[in-house]
Amino acid sequence: MVPAKPSIPLIDAVTSRRSIRGFLPEPVPREILEHVFEIAQQAPSNCNTQPWKAFVASGETKEKLRQKFLERQKDAVPGNPDFSYVSRFEGEYRTRQVECAVALYNEMGIARDDKAGRLRAVRRNFELFDAPHIVFLGMDRQFGSTIALDVGIYAQTLMLTMQAFGISSCAMGSMRAYPDLVREAFELDDQTGILLGISFGYEDPEVDANRTRTTRELMENTVTFRE
Ligand SMILES: Cc1cc2nc3c(=O)[nH]c(=O)nc-3n(C[C@H](O)[C@H](O)[C@H](O)COP(=O)(O)O)c2cc1C
Repeated sequence: MVPAKPSIPLIDAVTSRRSIRGFLPEPVPREILEHVFEIAQQAPSNCNTQPWKAFVASGETKEKLRQKFLERQKDAVPGNPDFSYVSRFEGEYRTRQVECAVALYNEMGIARDDKAGRLRAVRRNFELFDAPHIVFLGMDRQFGSTIALDVGIYAQTLMLTMQAFGISSCAMGSMRAYPDLVREAFELDDQTGILLGISFGYEDPEVDANRTRTTRELMENTVTFRE
């Protein structure tokens, strides 16, 4: 049976969504999952090419992947992402990057000079924030940034649909680090590249990190109107 559509206004889904970094173990029922991913298929794309590929890991598949990610991270294996990534931000971008890290570390009780605490925070990524599910989003490796835009639009469509169903999520660029493990788990060919992961499930309200709130630049500083 297809689950009933929730009646949450779009604006509420947009404004209530936050990155959640601590989940309850209960999985999302499969029929709800399928419904959510079916709705997300409505995302628009350039020439309707629909370049996204979504690989959802749950149960044993997710657990094995999590163990392998944690081993790689413990052994400090350098990441080998499929797509290039700017990791050094400058100016206003750097300011915002630091602000968002400080907001998270403050909630997690990690002081500025607490190196072990910071490492623990990074490790939480590879623990998948204890989520019962993670979806990896990918596309053909020959595509570049213009097509990745379509996958990004799909990612937000997916996260907002999840939000409407009471499912929390955290987009994770950190999941680009070891795409070979994802290809192995889903038996993918080398041509399929991995852009990011999204951990998801039901929020654990007891997790300190989930109190994190981020701010946004004033609209007038990013949007230009001209008549
Ligand atoms: C593409 C993308 C990659 C991200 N990667 C990570 C990540 O690896 N780890 C993490 O904890 N948060 C990650 N985030 C979450 C951002 O930090 C978060 O969206 C931002 O700080 C705004 O906060 P909010 O999502 O709660 O509104 C990512 C978000 C996006 C959109």
